[in-house]
Amino acid sequence: MDTKHWVVDKHQRNLESYPQIKEAAGLLKNNEVVAFPTETVYGLGANALSDKAVAKIYEAKGRPSDNPLIVHISTIGQLYKIAQDIPEQAERLIEKFWPGPLTLILKAKENAVSKKVTPGLDTVAVRMPSHPVALALIVASGLPLAAPSANTSGKPSPTLAKHVADDLTGKIAGILDGGATGVGLESTVLDCTGEVPVILRPGGVTKEQLEDVCGAVEVDRAILTEGEAPKSPGMKYKHYAPTAPLTIVNGSMEFIQSLVKGKQNKGLKVGVLTTSERENQYEADKIIACGSREDLESVANRLYDVLRLFDESDVDVIFSESFPSEGIGQAIMNRLTKAAGHKIITE
Ligand code: TXA
Ligand code: MG
Repeated sequence: MDTKHWVVDKHQRNLESYPQIKEAAGLLKNNEVVAFPTETVYGLGANALSDKAVAKIYEAKGRPSDNPLIVHISTIGQLYKIAQDIPEQAERLIEKFWPGPLTLILKAKENAVSKKVTPGLDTVAVRMPSHPVALALIVASGLPLAAPSANTSGKPSPTLAKHVADDLTGKIAGILDGGATGVGLESTVLDCTGEVPVILRPGGVTKEQLEDVCGAVEVDRAILTEGEAPKSPGMKYKHYAPTAPLTIVNGSMEFIQSLVKGKQNKGLKVGVLTTSERENQYEADKIIACGSREDLESVANRLYDVLRLFDESDVDVIFSESFPSEGIGQAIMNRLTKAAGHKIITE
């Protein structure tokens, strides 16, 4: 399949009437799949009302068919067509965080979207992205769009159109290239179907921010403890893993440097994931700065690109510095821990 590549400037007004967006929307109406930028990561969109269209998402990504998709909308009217019994707490969160990086799990209206979006579930995940290109595409297509991250299953989510092209060229109808995404990690997935909202996946909106709006919020235990079965089907899969084994190190720079030397003495090429503050202080075969430690949002923003860059290098093993688990740090450590297959060394 020929994959179109359209470049769009997200700062333009009336994006929904732009030829690139209209062409992409036309393909979506024809039940083809198209990748588009959001404020979190690139999404791979398809008509959420069509079995045929949604099936193409799973096929292009190689995604297990029991892993449900998020429905992306541009108006609150679309939400009420898809979900029902929306609790008051969820309404408050919507008021505060939409459009933005928060996905809500709500009770689904029967037969409102393709069964392939919510395989075997009576709930549906909904989010209204804030990226102007994403919103324009939803408006121009007139459809709710089912969209997972636009990567091959198991690879880090794409934060640049290049990442999408590397994974999916030839497998999808087109890529809307709106430049680098914002947050760099996926949306927070919040289950709003019980008494107390539960974070199933930490992300762009932090636990602290949610609690400011709706009081106590729980975190799915599987996120905190290895071996627990996660409530969100997608969280059980190994994700975000670079090819070379990654180990997180909880310790000083000197300790990390000694681990590097130990591996190098065995003839291995070693990579280090650090931040701009220490980039020039390590001796290793490949040192990549992932943002600045002073600004955890910059770490989130760079993380997936950095994991992909290690794949382009020839290192045999990677050591990563550890980050504080507060605010966006919770999402950073969640993704990093998964990328490391839970291998953490403490000094
Ligand atoms: O930021 C994001 O959320 C990006 C952009 C493209 O919007 N999308 C994204 O989608 O990360 P995906 O498919 O890669 O991750 C969706 C997560 C999965 O872990 C999935 O299992 C979970 O949401 N999910 C979807 N529907 C669910 C449901 N009804 N109940 C529980 N978890 C659900
Ligand atoms: Mg994903």
